[in-house]
Amino acid sequence: MSSSLVTDLCYIQQVAAAPAGASSESTEGVSHMAIELNVNGKVHSVDVPDDKPLLWVLREDVGLTGTKYACGIAQCGACMVHLDGQPMLACIVPASVAAGRNVTTVEGVESPAAMAIRSAWRELDVVQCGYCQSGQMMRATALLESNPSPTDDDIDNAMRGNLCRCATYHRIRAAIHRAADELEA
Ligand code: FES
Ligand code: FES
Repeated sequence: MSSSLVTDLCYIQQVAAAPAGASSESTEGVSHMAIELNVNGKVHSVDVPDDKPLLWVLREDVGLTGTKYACGIAQCGACMVHLDGQPMLACIVPASVAAGRNVTTVEGVESPAAMAIRSAWRELDVVQCGYCQSGQMMRATALLESNPSPTDDDIDNAMRGNLCRCATYHRIRAAIHRAADELEA
């Protein structure tokens, strides 16, 4: 298991300790929860099954489809979002855990690091099919926010949990360096 994935799972254990919201029983016998999600600075009120993953709530209930479903079991990184600024795999986090916290998706990430990543991705033509790239960019943004001058090893360690079937890894690494240079200038 990659170190970045371990970090995600540890963070999930911390935040899962006290999910917010009130549970109720639906007619189908599925326990639902009315929660307020702060996504990209906007509050969304949703009533969803207690254990519905944040990924599906974002895609189906909030209508933001930039966060992608691929493996669904914390093995690929395609569903990466930020939860209170920390990179997080949305496919394994119940939405109830995100209630009362700040969720940022690829549609709303606007920090200087995110802008530098976007522009470097365009300049170096990183994307091939594109499916993994929102997760890649969210992970890369979180990396630059915590480490503005990453080495190759730092990049490889941080990005290890984000798979790309098109093998764009070399361009991703170059783009992260380009974004770091832009931030430093
Ligand atoms: S879809 Fe979440 S890690 Fe693959
Ligand atoms: S660009 Fe195609 S899977 Fe990564």
